[in-house]
Amino acid sequence: MSDHIIIERQDAVQTIRMNRPDKKNAITRAMYAEMASALAAGDADPAVRVHVFLGVPGAFSAGNDLADFMTIATGGEGGGEVWDFLLALARTEKPVVSGVDGIAVGIGTTINLHCDLTFATPRTVFRTPFVDLGLVPEAGSSLLAPQVLGRQGAFALLGLGEGFPAERALAAGLIYKVVAEDELEAATLAAAREIATKPPEALKIARDLMRGDRSELVARIKVEGEHFRARLKSDEARAALVAFMTRKKG
Ligand code: COA
Repeated sequence: MSDHIIIERQDAVQTIRMNRPDKKNAITRAMYAEMASALAAGDADPAVRVHVFLGVPGAFSAGNDLADFMTIATGGEGGGEVWDFLLALARTEKPVVSGVDGIAVGIGTTINLHCDLTFATPRTVFRTPFVDLGLVPEAGSSLLAPQVLGRQGAFALLGLGEGFPAERALAAGLIYKVVAEDELEAATLAAAREIATKPPEALKIARDLMRGDRSELVARIKVEGEHFRARLKSDEARAALVAFMTRKKG
């Protein structure tokens, strides 16, 4: 386990915390790999009944590490860990709860489309600037977001890259509750503990019924991934990545 991902278990609750505050929790290949392993291990362990995703104060995640994107854009390797993580997330056998404070960009937003309950704080803004980066939606968001937000809400999020502050996200059905910053982790963990008290077999059947057949979701993640990899090598994406890497900070 690296310092960037901290896995903890408290009774039946497994917590996966992204912990790279100096980079606003941008997710590296190693972090995806650790999160994929944690989801698989938790799913395989009968002692675990619920997964929880957390970030750090002010940053759930700034999305995929853009330096890793740049590596692929310039012909390097990468992407397998992302695929493993997304597959594990889409196929989780157990409920997933997230507590999101502050920055939630790219996959920092789309993870939550897979969650059963998401708590956020008044300063949280969900944003997916895929198109502005010359990229396309990922993590099954092109399928899940229209289901959750309707076609026009999904277009606002995924096409226009509009920010969804917590209250808008709540009204749109993207999240479960907005709570104060200093109550976020307690509220998120309390919900997870409550889930863990439910009869696990009945809960699993109920959840599976609500989720339906996941094969369409997995197929969509794959197609999105193919477009995404191709787009990373496009002039549009390269220009956007170079602009971020070389930006001057005021
Ligand atoms: N990949 C790599 N590094 C990232 C990053 C990312 N996705 N997001 C932020 N960082 C780094 C910054 O480069 C900076 O590093 P430095 O201190 O070594 O220069 C550090 O994290 C802090 O970021 P900064 O931009 O100074 O913080 P901010 O509060 O002003 O802005 C964001 C936060 C998230 C709005 C801004 O960093 C951003 O737009 N990041 C890119 C988000 C993105 O496009 N993600 C991919 C979506 S597909």
